[in-house]
Amino acid sequence: MPSIRTEVRAAPIQGYGPVAKTLHWLVVALLIAQYVFAFTMPDIGRNTVPGALINLHMSFGLTILAVVVVRWLWRIGHPIPLATRDMPSWEQPLARIVHGALYVLLVVSPILGWMNASARDWTITVFGLLQLPHLVAARSALGRQAGDVHTFLAWTLLVLVGLHVLAALYHYFVRNDGVLQRMLPGTGR
Ligand code: HEM
Ligand code: HEM
Repeated sequence: MPSIRTEVRAAPIQGYGPVAKTLHWLVVALLIAQYVFAFTMPDIGRNTVPGALINLHMSFGLTILAVVVVRWLWRIGHPIPLATRDMPSWEQPLARIVHGALYVLLVVSPILGWMNASARDWTITVFGLLQLPHLVAARSALGRQAGDVHTFLAWTLLVLVGLHVLAALYHYFVRNDGVLQRMLPGTGR
């Protein structure tokens, strides 16, 4: 006969809804492409004229910014409790900090890239369809420094994503507690 503890473990934990899941995996796909462009685009110097790869980097980066803002607003309107069962007390605050940091970096880093592109006086478009204004004056010191911080934060984002993925795999393979399934299609609400 199953113990009460076993029955509680078997109950499904509330998962993310289809919109939150779609936006999560859309951002993952866009980010994979974005890092491929970042690492294959030509070195950017004082007189660089943006070619196809740099324009793709800017277009994908601005798309990520827009999707993440929508995703964040959706998240605020549709709060999802973190999974709570059988978790050590440090796990929830850590997950909250990492998820929060991922959102912040996904918003701040593209804006700094946009500032740097503005300081380079480039034409900034989303796939050539929508032209965006410059955020800072051409050749401004602020815009130049923003480029360095942009690159640093993009690396920080990569490290945090690595930790986040390791945590998801740990929940699946070691803890087997249904946390990864919360973000997979066909589960939850
Ligand atoms: C989440 C979105 C983004 C990620 C993950 C990202 C990632 C990166 C990375 C890793 C680099 C360094 C490439 C290298 O040195 O090998 C870089 C450079 C750069 N990115 Fe982004 N980027 C994003 C969004 C954007 C956006 C939206 C723009 C402009 C509209 C942009 C413009 C630039 C520029 C101008 C550089 C060169 C910076 C410099 O050398 O000072 N990026 N990006
Ligand atoms: C580009 C990479 C990724 C980013 C930026 C990212 C970002 C995020 C963020 C911000 C959340 C919190 C969602 C919210 O509460 O609103 C989240 C949740 C989650 N992510 Fe990711 N993620 C990425 C890749 C992945 C991958 C590859 C996996 C699976 C191996 C994964 C599995 C999960 C799971 C299971 C949750 C739900 C955790 C919970 O139960 O609360 N993520 N992700």
